[in-house]
Amino acid sequence: MDVLTRLVLYFFSLQALCCPVSCAEWEAEVIKKIEVLTTSCVVIPCSFEYPGVQKSHSQLRGIWYSGNARDKFIYHEDDTKIVENFKGRTKMVGDLGSKNCTLEIVEFKNHDAGPYCFRIEIPGGENFSYKDNCAQVFVTEKPEEPKLHYREKAYEGSPYAITCSVIHTCPSHMPELTWSRGGKEEVTTHYKSIGEGKWEVQSLLTFVPNEHDDDADITCAANFYGGMNSESKMNLRVKRELFYMYQNWGASCFRQCECVFKLEVIKHTVS
Ligand SMILES: *[C@@H]1O[C@H](CO)[C@@H](O)[C@H](O)[C@H]1NC(C)=O
Ligand SMILES: *[C@@H]1O[C@H](CO)[C@@H](O)[C@H](O)[C@H]1NC(C)=O
Repeated sequence: MDVLTRLVLYFFSLQALCCPVSCAEWEAEVIKKIEVLTTSCVVIPCSFEYPGVQKSHSQLRGIWYSGNARDKFIYHEDDTKIVENFKGRTKMVGDLGSKNCTLEIVEFKNHDAGPYCFRIEIPGGENFSYKDNCAQVFVTEKPEEPKLHYREKAYEGSPYAITCSVIHTCPSHMPELTWSRGGKEEVTTHYKSIGEGKWEVQSLLTFVPNEHDDDADITCAANFYGGMNSESKMNLRVKRELFYMYQNWGASCFRQCECVFKLEVIKHTVS
């Protein structure tokens, strides 16, 4: 056996020796920085590793503290230990038994900014503060504006769709998107995580415009948890293609692609 093979074998036997328990080190993965809307909420993604036998949620004590002052607890299972400003506003939403230390802070305040760090205490075992992996939390007073996506042209009698989306940090209380028009049956909403502690709410408005919709303003408003809101507006231009087509079929077919479109519309209306 050469030296390299021996080394490799040695390494594997070491792994086999310690892995039935856990080879893990004291490591945490926490979001590096995140900007939170004042009055709203943030869910800080966090996961951690610790050496030794794996414990259940109730066998572990998860603590969040200010990176500027070790004794300033912003979350503790004993809430008398939490600093006054954060009392009743923080919650461990992660399951410690699954090594998930995700923290929720609601009613975010202007002076809530700061580095926040996770600490694990294993009763009868060791304690560890993951002070090299703290979350930098910033505050913004300006709500994110919803983004609108739509086709430039709408055609009378033909379905038309607009999407409105907004990014936020509060998956436990998603922002509501509301339209200046459209009933419930015309709107569908989707939620998704886009990583880095950010989430996106997307609302899709689908309707069939008529002649009265031409030049109408359509607004999408985002109402964030905590009461902040913002909105974006678009102006609808409805082309009266169908009417024109019946009146003047030949003359309206300047381009081949337009003709194809109109033929589809006819098929649709007739069936
Ligand atoms: C941690 O817990 C949060 C809150 O329950 C959950 O949304 C997230 O998916 C969990 N993370 C992992 C890696 O399981
Ligand atoms: C871990 O922290 C708890 C609470 O602060 C303390 O009572 C305990 O002695 C600590 N354990 C060790 C091994 O330092």
